[in-house]
Amino acid sequence: MSNNKHTDTLFAAPLEPAPFEFNAQVADVFDNMIQRSVPGYAFLLEVISVLAQRYGQADSQCYDLGCSLGTTTLRLRQNLPASCHVIGVDNSAAMVGRCQHNMARDNSQASYEICQQDIQDAKIQNASIVILNFTLQFIEDQQRQSILSNIYDGMKPGGVLLLAEKICFNSPQQQALQTDLYHDFKRCQGYSDLEVAQKRAALENVLVPNTLQQHYQRLEQAGFKQIEVCMQCFNFCALLAFK
Ligand SMILES: C[S@@+](CC[C@H](N)C(=O)[O-])C[C@H]1O[C@@H](n2cnc3c(N)ncnc32)[C@H](O)[C@@H]1O
Repeated sequence: MSNNKHTDTLFAAPLEPAPFEFNAQVADVFDNMIQRSVPGYAFLLEVISVLAQRYGQADSQCYDLGCSLGTTTLRLRQNLPASCHVIGVDNSAAMVGRCQHNMARDNSQASYEICQQDIQDAKIQNASIVILNFTLQFIEDQQRQSILSNIYDGMKPGGVLLLAEKICFNSPQQQALQTDLYHDFKRCQGYSDLEVAQKRAALENVLVPNTLQQHYQRLEQAGFKQIEVCMQCFNFCALLAFK
């Protein structure tokens, strides 16, 4: 793998254990990190193009909650009707600064704003599309239901939520197999055993996955009428939930 300043080598050398944070160091290499760490990430960008073209309603708002550097926010904006307004939300200052820079270089017509805010405080209104691409897993478990209910309440009829998450499994055998396969995937992406182990330790209690069943239950409780799996790669899954 060619190494440059944007290649993720954050966990390559032995480190003192510390919880993972979305700080400036992570933001600098985040594009490379997410592409090499999330199986199916590139596919989900294509899904977002499809969703924006099909479900982006004229004069509506489209949200990207946990927008990081704006990779998904840009995809959304580039495929929406010009009358849509795109709102990216992230609580990391390092991410928001870089996201604003990336968005400003794009000249698609839909208007946008990038807010540094906790998604628990985000006001969702008149929404035809909401994206939660690997964000809910970083929110405290007890807060997840109210976030999904708030999203549902702020969505227009015919609106769609994309919920992508790392998931876990009730069966210990399935959990062990999917985790092993995922770690093999990371090694194929050029991460060493030490990088895999240190990143895993840093994410412990920071990224807390749920089962697919828990996600279905919450989405149904929020009010979503139809829920479809649109991607599963090992222990990573994306659901489409329709109002
Ligand atoms: C895995 S990244 C999301 C990746 C991004 N959606 C993409 O597809 O490129 C998770 C993001 O959620 C943000 N985040 C975590 N907890 C948050 C919260 N409570 N409110 C807002 N943003 C949050 C982090 O700062 C980080 O940028």
